[in-house]
Amino acid sequence: MKLFVISLLLGTGWCLDIPTAGANIKYDCEYCQPEQIHIAFGNKANDIVVTWSTFNDTHDSRVQYGEGYMDKEATGFSKLFVDGGRRKRRQYIHTVTLKDLKFDTSYVYHVGSVYGWSEEFIFHTAPEGEDWPVRAAIYGDMGSGNAQSLSYLQDEAQRNKFDVILHVGDFAYDMDSKNALVGDEFMRQIQPLAAVVPYMTCPGNHEEKYNFSNYAARFAMPGPDSSLFYSFDLGPVHFVSISTEVYYYLNYGIKLISAQYDWLKEDLEKANLPENRSRRPWIVLFGHRPMYCNDRLDVDCNMELTRIGLHGLWPLEPLLKDYGVDLVIWAHDHLYERSFPLYDNKVYNGSTEYPYVNPGAPVHIITGSAGCKEGHSHFKDHPAPWSAFRSSDYGYTRFEAHNKTHVYMEQVNVEQNVANMKLIIISVLLGMCWARKLHIREAGPKYECSHCQPEQIHIAFGEKVNDIVVTWSTFNDTEESRVQYGVGIMDTEATGSSKLFIDGGKLMRSQYIHTVTLKDLQFNTRYVYHAGSVYGWSEEFWFHTPPAGEDWPVRAAIYGDMGNKNAHSLSYLQDEAQRDHFDLVLHVGDFAYDMDTDNALVGDEFMRQIQPLAAIVPYMTCPGNHEQAYNFSNYAARFTMPGPDSSLFYSFDLGPVHFVSISTEVYYFTRYGLKLIVNQYNWLKEDLAKANLPENRRRRPWLVVMGHRPMYCSDSNDIDCSCEYTRNGLLGVYGLEPLLMEFGVDLVIWAHEHSYERTWPLFDNRVYNGSYDKPYVNPGAPVHIITGSAGCQEATDPFRPDPMSWSAFRNSDYGYTRFVAHNKTHIYMEQVDVDLKGKVIDSFWLVKNQHKSYNIKH
Ligand SMILES: [Fe+2]
Ligand SMILES: [Fe+2]
Repeated sequence: MKLFVISLLLGTGWCLDIPTAGANIKYDCEYCQPEQIHIAFGNKANDIVVTWSTFNDTHDSRVQYGEGYMDKEATGFSKLFVDGGRRKRRQYIHTVTLKDLKFDTSYVYHVGSVYGWSEEFIFHTAPEGEDWPVRAAIYGDMGSGNAQSLSYLQDEAQRNKFDVILHVGDFAYDMDSKNALVGDEFMRQIQPLAAVVPYMTCPGNHEEKYNFSNYAARFAMPGPDSSLFYSFDLGPVHFVSISTEVYYYLNYGIKLISAQYDWLKEDLEKANLPENRSRRPWIVLFGHRPMYCNDRLDVDCNMELTRIGLHGLWPLEPLLKDYGVDLVIWAHDHLYERSFPLYDNKVYNGSTEYPYVNPGAPVHIITGSAGCKEGHSHFKDHPAPWSAFRSSDYGYTRFEAHNKTHVYMEQVNVEQNVANMKLIIISVLLGMCWARKLHIREAGPKYECSHCQPEQIHIAFGEKVNDIVVTWSTFNDTEESRVQYGVGIMDTEATGSSKLFIDGGKLMRSQYIHTVTLKDLQFNTRYVYHAGSVYGWSEEFWFHTPPAGEDWPVRAAIYGDMGNKNAHSLSYLQDEAQRDHFDLVLHVGDFAYDMDTDNALVGDEFMRQIQPLAAIVPYMTCPGNHEQAYNFSNYAARFTMPGPDSSLFYSFDLGPVHFVSISTEVYYFTRYGLKLIVNQYNWLKEDLAKANLPENRRRRPWLVVMGHRPMYCSDSNDIDCSCEYTRNGLLGVYGLEPLLMEFGVDLVIWAHEHSYERTWPLFDNRVYNGSYDKPYVNPGAPVHIITGSAGCQEATDPFRPDPMSWSAFRNSDYGYTRFVAHNKTHIYMEQVDVDLKGKVIDSFWLVKNQHKSYNIKH
């Protein structure tokens, strides 16, 4: 990875990691944003395998990672996965292994390619050796809809409660449903936990379609055989994962039964060798269909194929006995059941009083009630003699191998029709029990929600800059909008509201857009948060609040005209944002190309693409011409800006800068009301007048205005360069340039032209340089910057061959602008060229010892 030192800000070094474009990567990639990110243990517990999907080929699979800082990079590969359904939907599934990590260490990472980075995630590696308590969440049969346990699991995983997750078969219901769209949605739903805790799996009957291909492609488990069976060591536990399904789907080959049987025998035999058993005494086996169960409707409970084998061949229960397996975990029945120590239908309790202390046979747990669209299972009226406890409420199992002699397990009940989350401590294995804090929650809405997973999460400044507004979307109504947040730990909760947004397109696609404001945050503080509802939490994100007062350097990324497709600057921006280089982002209009395209599917995809930066850095916007459809409704609904008028114009103060955002589009799309021009003009005049009052200007001297269509430009293909509506007004009224002069605006930022251009200090087509030598020191007019080359499907714009006298620098490469208001007298700006892999091609200092109205006669 290259490390360029790019700019020296008044002597402060600013180091930047540049994502290096891979050879032969040609930029034009839609659907290259990583999603469905999850991790698993590799061949040893300190190898972590990272897996994700993109819908187009990125030709490149990379993970940047490190302790606290992403300073290492690992590369891997992707495989094209084609679902077996009618539409043969395709995706690239990427796998990168992070090898030989330090034990017991927190790592941050993101995944992706030059086309886009994921969010930044954190995982904690396992301690070395065997003498540490292994904590697992265990469950099976969790679907995309009615996933009652999901939000609990996401929450607990983010609160570092688990070292591993065992998902004991049956995913999504089913991963191949709807041409595997259901699988994609499910993998997005588990990302908030599976990207931070190794998600270890075994196949269930719902994975059977097309020879388990969705399962095998999406989960990268250790071992050679398409993840069907494998084992791994973690602390004092040897975990073994098997496929019970090889006994049921003989059409995929009887040979799999014997192959698994032979492998299992050898694996258990080895684990049971005295030298291994003394180091790692617990053997825990998991598979989908139970050997024992008591479900009223499940014929499998009488079939016992895995227990007694197929026509008596390859029976697995004798192996449990021969090699002293301690615990066997199943799912498949949508209930929880704990057995007494059990072999061949007979109970072998340790003693009458302490059945689980030194028991004479393995203990069986069935935990298949995580929640899926098939609902609960029902027990037979009379429990079997081996049954110790049973419950058909939704929930999941917590497991803790506390040490070499004690394993503790408990069943969590997540039923939503009760006032509090019930936490029932159900089983005590080997006599050990310890108290846990109960996590009490309010009663949630009624459960049955697919497409309630939060997505498109982004933040913005509220009415003041220590109010942060969190905005996100769900496709169904969650009936609540919550953000849990805090310093280091999410110990505070704020609630907000959601609005149903209906796109104006033919399909009238709808979504709920949620807004929660986190008020009166501490200044200069790092917060963590997640957003969601009882139906599902987002990933955990962090943001850093600005320092108090005016005396600190404000760092911004500034650009316009970034699309869903061909977004050249995207991965650079995502990367820089995660490396804490920006206090805010200004997106100067033109999003997604267009947000309403394809019935607003393009808007959704774009909002997902910016999430890795916009969820952690306030993303401040103004509307461009590409937002105009249906009266800017996609723009107004998706972005929550301060001020009253559907985000069309507003201002905010940050450090020594007063930022003003306007809509140039009110001058062009007059069918939405001429009154908007008047309203904005009057508001802007008042806002600038106030900001220019001597007492305000002393404290916060910089006035920066942004809007989409430039007052000046020299591109050859745009009539707007000679249109000048915003500059001169419509029929000569409500022109904005006089306001810039009257109130001494320092800097004006535009986009719309897909290029970068810097002007000399400029008013009414005349240049007012500070001096011949130092044009930007105490200049006599505002400086204009046009930065619309972030990248979109319309490519870049060429310039007229003859630059105007006011044009100081221009370039048509893709890129974005960095801005630092270093203090009350110095602003530094530079243009990053992403065609040149991040090279800075233009920079300048704007220096002002006095900020006030310009002295221009005209
Ligand atoms: Fe099942
Ligand atoms: Fe535009």
